[in-house]
Amino acid sequence: MKTDTPKTILLSEYTPPAYLVPSIDLEFRLDPHATRVTAVSRMERTADTPADAPLVLNGAGLKLVSVAIDGAPVGPDRWLQEEERLVIRKVPAAFELTVVTEIDPAGNTALEGLYLSNGIFCTQCEAEGFRKITYFPDRPDVMARYRTTIIGDPAVLPVMLSNGNPVADEIGEDGLRHITWEDPFPKPSYLFALVAGDLALCESPFTTMSGRDVSLRLYVEPRNADKCEHAMASLKKAMVWDEQAYGREYDLDIYMIVAVDDFNMGAMENKGLNVFNSKYILARPDTATDSDYGGIEAVVAHEYFHNWTGNRITCRDWFQLSLKEGLTVFREQQFVADHQSAAVSRIHDVRVLRAAQFPEDAGPTAHPVRPDSYIEISNFYTSTVYNKGAEVIRMLHTLIGPEAFARGMDLYFERHDGQAVTCEDFVRAHADANELDLGDFFRWYVQAGTPEVSVETRHDPESRSFELTFTQTLKPTPGQPVKKPMVIPVRTALIGADGAPLALRLANEAADAPEADQTERVLVLEDRVTRFTFADVAERPVPSLLRGFSAPVKLETRAEDADLAFLMGHDDDAFNRWEAAQTYAIRVIHRLIADAAAGRPLVLPADFRDAFARTIGDDSLDPALIAEALTLPGESYLAETMTRIDVEGITAARQFVRREIGRSLEGLLLEVFDRLAAEDAGKPYSFDPASVGRRSLANLCLAYLGAPGGTAGLERARRRFETADNMTDALGGLLVLADQEDALSQPAFDAFYARWKDEPLVVDKWFMVQATASRANALDHVLKLMEHPAFSMRNPNRVRSLIGAFAASNPRGFHEASGRGYDFLADQIITLDASNPQIAARLVGPFKRWRRYDDQRQALMRQALERIAARQGLSRDVYEMVSKSLA
Ligand code: PHE
Ligand code: ZN
Repeated sequence: MKTDTPKTILLSEYTPPAYLVPSIDLEFRLDPHATRVTAVSRMERTADTPADAPLVLNGAGLKLVSVAIDGAPVGPDRWLQEEERLVIRKVPAAFELTVVTEIDPAGNTALEGLYLSNGIFCTQCEAEGFRKITYFPDRPDVMARYRTTIIGDPAVLPVMLSNGNPVADEIGEDGLRHITWEDPFPKPSYLFALVAGDLALCESPFTTMSGRDVSLRLYVEPRNADKCEHAMASLKKAMVWDEQAYGREYDLDIYMIVAVDDFNMGAMENKGLNVFNSKYILARPDTATDSDYGGIEAVVAHEYFHNWTGNRITCRDWFQLSLKEGLTVFREQQFVADHQSAAVSRIHDVRVLRAAQFPEDAGPTAHPVRPDSYIEISNFYTSTVYNKGAEVIRMLHTLIGPEAFARGMDLYFERHDGQAVTCEDFVRAHADANELDLGDFFRWYVQAGTPEVSVETRHDPESRSFELTFTQTLKPTPGQPVKKPMVIPVRTALIGADGAPLALRLANEAADAPEADQTERVLVLEDRVTRFTFADVAERPVPSLLRGFSAPVKLETRAEDADLAFLMGHDDDAFNRWEAAQTYAIRVIHRLIADAAAGRPLVLPADFRDAFARTIGDDSLDPALIAEALTLPGESYLAETMTRIDVEGITAARQFVRREIGRSLEGLLLEVFDRLAAEDAGKPYSFDPASVGRRSLANLCLAYLGAPGGTAGLERARRRFETADNMTDALGGLLVLADQEDALSQPAFDAFYARWKDEPLVVDKWFMVQATASRANALDHVLKLMEHPAFSMRNPNRVRSLIGAFAASNPRGFHEASGRGYDFLADQIITLDASNPQIAARLVGPFKRWRRYDDQRQALMRQALERIAARQGLSRDVYEMVSKSLA
């Protein structure tokens, strides 16, 4: 806790470490309240460091027991213990430092450093958690070889793990078990891990492409031993994929994953010993949804991919976070696209980007993919660093092409293996491997904000030419008033009247140029205005732009409704077919919002309804894609498309469309639902793209049917909820019932809880469905749930399921005009800040857009933020989010 104004850390102030640590021996004598940590480090002053430079170590919340240099105790006259540092004077050029500290894992509610989750000791060191274990240069460019001895009572802690391989295991004279692990790979402190507890093991062998045998080990609480299969299968797929796609294989003899219930984030890639939020490991068909299965496959792969992009090559400093995260998310996305439906997975990537990253880029905490300042690094595990960072890598891949990208990656691995590097190093590897100048492209790393691209088209039948003129603008963001143009790849096709894409010859190209008969090209915008003229275009085509979402920009299209409907039916790029449907839906919703605001009666346009009906009824289409096309844009993205967010308008218009579709297409929706339900009846659950697609379309039909509350739909929802043998379908039914009046919803909630009260991840769903249900008294319901015995402020998943879900995804409840929703959230942030600042800071998110609402809501949200800001002793985490939001 800090009372003075926290300090801002600047990239421009980076200096290399004064002392390096080639190796460290750690000993943990485990005890819930008083764990003793002995750290023996080899320290070496670097050549550029003056001989009188003190040794500065990071440390926070530590009880310092003793310090010794080369075995000789060093008294307090030689060191200075500050709040977050230990400064030792007069140290030799090379020496062995022994530091003994004592820590309290049971009292560690921030879940950073060493803590207990359901009696399991576990660590979380990224980004700066290692300093809560011992005094150490806790920065990623200090890479050490770790040897870790864990001492504990084998009866209580039968499993004791750390990075690498076990090299000694014995019962000591103290009657305790002493096990020693050694990790041969030098690593930064943030990749250190230790786990000890009563855990069940699920083991499976794997042979790498070079023939090395690896033991894959999944550790879970014994009651979850039946929920490991999918995670293990996902891990193997990821290992094979990285060998095939990037030529990278695993490098240790053991790969361990531990699942714990209390975890701030999704998962952590500690070398050879990942620690996961159990949400991303545990799955059984009756407890986990398709989306959970998909999430597990993606996150297990993501953490595995970090072994090369993150661990073997790591970040020089935390400003470079996207070096590992953006790249690893991109690799994860490629992997998912290869294993699940490619188009659906791209659509999901873009939905996440638009729902989370676009608002961030447009708000008070906008920052570049490679930030240049921070107060608390934990606040920078953002959608910008992760998801926009992945888009930047994808653009590079698109601009230089897959072969050049592969050459660049190979050079990157070859040149930097074992190093801690920067985003410049990454881009330079691609430039050098392909003899390219990527200087302007690098602006994507340093300029914040989402570029807006508008396009004008002109067809001249006489000269048979077609012109596309693109204009890009990038609005100012905090600290960046003026920007340079970005390099934007626009993947483009021109669709002819017959629905087929045209050959694309630019006017300045020869007719026999090799590119000239391609039907898709990447147009690169490098200036504020860029014009392309195509030759031999006899009739006005419909342009299909930004195919596959080739750049993270807002494309403003002037296409007519009819062109959108045409692209919905004909675009040969599945992503853009979906995009046309989304754009069309956004337009319709915007018009309805305007109608509602002007007091005009709401009418669903017949053309829109017909395009919708044609898509549902088209059984030549993949059900998964139909479901995506017919899912209306979410409220968060809709809000993003409005200058002044009209809370009631968005909810009312979106609800109106859902109800009207459900009512006017009831017959068709019932038919499709019944057909899909019949196809799946009696089949065992399987997580494959076709089955997932069928379930998602059936649940979507059900959701539309439920919207107007018609009996046929509700009856089916109730039956599906009661009889489903898998969680996807059961939840599909429950979500429909949840929005109905208490007489229908409450018995369903009660039955669900009674059945699943012993499965925490399912209880999270129970909280979440209620927190996000659209009902008049949503906040009262949430307040009541806060008192439920199963609710806990100590478990991040639970907090996210109730408080987080309500604030982020129940606009009607959260933005209640009285401001009660805002007061509620402010209260929870203040309470949580005392126990878990990271989770508290994340909850500030829904307040960040406060300036975009109506005057009354602005005032109320601002008051809530000011009330938080006025608290004494705020954490750096919450301080940064709140002060930036108010600035
Ligand atoms: N590095 C983790 C990942 O993205 C995320 C994480 C960050 C986990 C910080 C815990 C703490 O894979
Ligand atoms: Zn990651």
